[in-house]
Amino acid sequence: MNLLEIKNLEVHFTTDHGVVMAIDRINLSIEKGEIMGLVGESGCGKTTIGKSILRVLPEPSGKIVSGAVFFDERNLLDLSEKELHLKVRGRAITVIPQDPSTSFNPVFTIGSQFLDIIKYKVNSEPYDNKRNIKAPKRPTFLKSRARNKKIVEMLKSVQISTPEKQIRKYAHEFSGGQRQRIMIAMALAPKPALIIADEATTALDVTIEAQILVLLRNLTKEHHTSVLFITHDLAVANEICDRITVMYAGQIMESAPTESFFSSPCHPYTRGLLNSLPNPKGNIKTIKGEIPPLINPPKGCRFHPRCPRMLPICKEKLPEAIEITTDHFVRCFNHFAD
Ligand SMILES: Nc1ncnc2c1ncn2[C@@H]1O[C@H](COP(=O)(O)OP(=O)(O)O)[C@@H](O)[C@H]1O
Ligand code: SF4
Ligand SMILES: [Mg+2]
Repeated sequence: MNLLEIKNLEVHFTTDHGVVMAIDRINLSIEKGEIMGLVGESGCGKTTIGKSILRVLPEPSGKIVSGAVFFDERNLLDLSEKELHLKVRGRAITVIPQDPSTSFNPVFTIGSQFLDIIKYKVNSEPYDNKRNIKAPKRPTFLKSRARNKKIVEMLKSVQISTPEKQIRKYAHEFSGGQRQRIMIAMALAPKPALIIADEATTALDVTIEAQILVLLRNLTKEHHTSVLFITHDLAVANEICDRITVMYAGQIMESAPTESFFSSPCHPYTRGLLNSLPNPKGNIKTIKGEIPPLINPPKGCRFHPRCPRMLPICKEKLPEAIEITTDHFVRCFNHFAD
């Protein structure tokens, strides 16, 4: 069952140079408990999708031009700003950012930043649209001993040792890896239904990154939390995701369960991305050409100026997404057959 369903989303940014057509009629869904990888080169629109879900696009330049974002069957684009603030952001949907150092408040201890999240009793229940979506009129606070116990438990769950001592420390006293673990604990603290992780492990070195990916996968599976896992790195997506969606220049090109995605990638762009991954033979082939300007994007399939399999029709028409095998979708007039 789908938790999130993005339908025909179109997003523009108005700039001094013209209108950037950043997201072009995207459809994307995430099932309850699923980890969905959103992958593509820098500038293809991944962050814009995350921001559109929470309606935190920069104002006044960013605008959702059309489409819908159904979350638990309600269109988030129809909610009032107040409803979104009280019920969705930081509650039903939380975020793990790329750089946790800018997300912590430097003047408060880690413990007090947790308190902001868990002080209301309502936040200690798993998110449930029918029961918990309403913020209480007069919030009930957790008792102080219960709060501390909860914070310690959460820090333990992300493998922070001696958590009783750590809650009095400030963010700068932790390593980058520890800060990202604490961010994961904070994102899970209000028991959200969906976590948006935007390049959440990109800043970490490879060994720490691998540990954090395992931790994030185990914890979100344990809590049945869905994740929109945004990364530019297909190898990282392979480690953690149940399903992978590839974007290029604001359009979705291919989407498939991780296993079928890697065993039979069908879109020419996906093949290009896979060929450009480091491999034991060292024969890395980068995709020729450059990402197109989104102020005046190419007509038809936006990948056509770089595509080795381009047909005349590709310059004129945008291909429809077709299901080539169960749950494996590709948007291409001339995709690979296996
Ligand atoms: N605030 C903004 N103003 C103008 N253009 C923007 C803004 N934010 C993003 N864009 C443009 O939208 C496109 C998608 O950007 P983004 O979502 O950040 O990509 P990604 O996260 O995949 O790197 C890019 O062409 C980018 O230049
Ligand atoms: S639709 Fe055409 S240009 Fe686009 S990826 Fe497929 S073959 Fe290449
Ligand atoms: Mg980004």
